[in-house]
Amino acid sequence: MQVPFFRLTVTDAMRSSVDEVIASGWLTSGPKVQAFESAFAEAVGATHAIAVNSCTAALHLALEAIGVGPGDRVLVPTMTFAATAAVVRYLGADPVLCDVCPKTALLTPDIVEQSLTANPDISVCMPVHFGGLPCDMAAITKICTKHNVRIVDDAAHAFPASDNGRSVGTLADVSCFSFYANKTLTTGEGGMLVTNDDAIAARARVMRLHGMDRDAWGRFTVETAKWEYDIIAPGYKYNMPDIAAALGLAQIEHAINDRDKRTAIARNYDDAFASLNTMRACGTRDRVNHAWHLYWIVLNDSAPLHRNACIDALQEAGVSTSVHYKPLHRMRYWQERLGLKTADFPGAESILRGCIPLPIFPDLQPDEQTHVIEAMQHVLIEA
Ligand SMILES: Cc1ncc(COP(=O)(O)O)c(C=O)c1O
Repeated sequence: MQVPFFRLTVTDAMRSSVDEVIASGWLTSGPKVQAFESAFAEAVGATHAIAVNSCTAALHLALEAIGVGPGDRVLVPTMTFAATAAVVRYLGADPVLCDVCPKTALLTPDIVEQSLTANPDISVCMPVHFGGLPCDMAAITKICTKHNVRIVDDAAHAFPASDNGRSVGTLADVSCFSFYANKTLTTGEGGMLVTNDDAIAARARVMRLHGMDRDAWGRFTVETAKWEYDIIAPGYKYNMPDIAAALGLAQIEHAINDRDKRTAIARNYDDAFASLNTMRACGTRDRVNHAWHLYWIVLNDSAPLHRNACIDALQEAGVSTSVHYKPLHRMRYWQERLGLKTADFPGAESILRGCIPLPIFPDLQPDEQTHVIEAMQHVLIEA
């Protein structure tokens, strides 16, 4: 049996939503983007949702709208994807990379307090809800407010998720979601910037499309002077096309309902692995709704195989895995630019040494999950 790392569930609603856009003849940003934005804002309980063509674009627009510029410094956890730190450099600023909790891979209030105290020039903090597990945003917000630091959370993995009853998307100055191909809701490529701040929303809307004061749909739907627009800043080309928004719109409800399926899969893994003392499952937090975009385990040093050998053995058994992520302090560009030492990141290092994310997606069949579990047990007990 072959078990993929991710398999997309394609519904009739997705097909007909896209067909509708094609039949309409309006493929770029238009009514579907507006409908997707409204539905997404309602789903997370925020005032503004601004659809863009990636989470990377959303993160860039968020920092730009907050006013990050050359010489500024932004707190970024090392355990994240390239984009979280790269967007800081797009604006001529620099990230301050910090360690994460070895159990959850999250930025913790203690790490935030230490980092902001040691680096009083940091102006923005970027918590990453790694794997879909929300950070302790109430405590982090308290600390950031004390230090006069704004928060842009990287919610690429975290739809739908909540912390203590509050939805991710309402826990920061700006939240940025990803709709990349293997995310819990996907438009192929895409992202959403979410905020309750009117000024940030207004700036991001203008900057996502060339700094124009009216987009194509806005011009198309006015009675007079359809051709006319002004440019108020040198903006970017980050708009989401209607054809992608149609896919996203058709998935919102499914993605919300599918969280229960993902949670059940995670619980099955937890139960099956509880007796294996050569590995540990990823930690979670109390009073959260976890999006379960990722389920990862960490091999102990006593495991019979090291991470890469284990990944190869699983592949041979037909189980596809991956590593999320090689932390940023291990990347040459950041090491050279920021002068980083591996020893300063013990939490992330302890995860990296043994981390293996396993298949988790709503359509994972019981016999497929049994196959993954048996392959893990075989590798870790009988290797
Ligand atoms: C934590 C994190 N942040 C940001 C991104 C960037 O998302 P996108 O590919 O939509 O730009 C990703 C993508 O996987 C991610 O995992």
